[in-house]
Amino acid sequence: MQIIIYDDAQQVAINAANWVQNLIKEKAKPVLGLATGSTPIRLYQELVAQHKAGHCSFANVTSFNLDEYHQIDEQNPQSYRSFMQENLFDHVDIDKANTFLPTCSQGQNPREQGLAYEDKIKQASGVDLQILGIGANGHIGFNEPTSSLTSRTRIKTLTQQTLADNSRLFTDDEIQPTMAMTMGIATIMDARYVLLMATGKNKAQAVKDMITGAVSASCPASMLQMHENAVILLDKEAASMLDDHRYYQWADKQNKKLNEKLGFYHNF
Ligand code: PGA
Repeated sequence: MQIIIYDDAQQVAINAANWVQNLIKEKAKPVLGLATGSTPIRLYQELVAQHKAGHCSFANVTSFNLDEYHQIDEQNPQSYRSFMQENLFDHVDIDKANTFLPTCSQGQNPREQGLAYEDKIKQASGVDLQILGIGANGHIGFNEPTSSLTSRTRIKTLTQQTLADNSRLFTDDEIQPTMAMTMGIATIMDARYVLLMATGKNKAQAVKDMITGAVSASCPASMLQMHENAVILLDKEAASMLDDHRYYQWADKQNKKLNEKLGFYHNF
């Protein structure tokens, strides 16, 4: 895992946006894995700003989101489709026909929908760069603790902690969904690169478990220890429980020197 610690959340977003822009520039048909939640909002703002400044085009991008609430209407302002439109898709030149979320509407079979989503990702030649946040309980996507480390896109019941963490986003008259379709951990592991962002003190324990804990279904993000190209972007607060803080910062400096000599190369 490449662990990079920045001063604040804005630096995390700017550097995550660099990764996305590099992918878009390097590949003729880039495939992005996208995430929702509070953490990636700054990244999307940065990408929109870069696009508006003429620095990047999403015209050839295909995207696959990590998750979507079960049986939610896509017009519902709480759907992750609405979130993506509002935070990214409506402000860049992406072809919305090439943007996918793992949906399962009323009357559809979640098992079939999960398999169909996996097929769609394969048809697009797989995800090049998967953006991830992390839950305070160590989840990635909606792969809650105890999720199989070899899971594929399927329906999951959200934990009480996740429901409590996300309740801030719902008003009293809105019904908070308790189930969601989510890419599985194996689906995420198939991405050529994963870029996980974590900011704020409430993520510090999950970050510690992910990086220095045992690989375990109790902390689904710990499976990223087994990923060949996992990049973890943290602010100081999210990194505050890591013992090897200074080593990561030193290693990052060394990597930067190497990149200056060899160029910023990634085998997307
Ligand atoms: P957050 O969620 O960015 O809203 O903290 C992260 C996640 O649950 O993956």
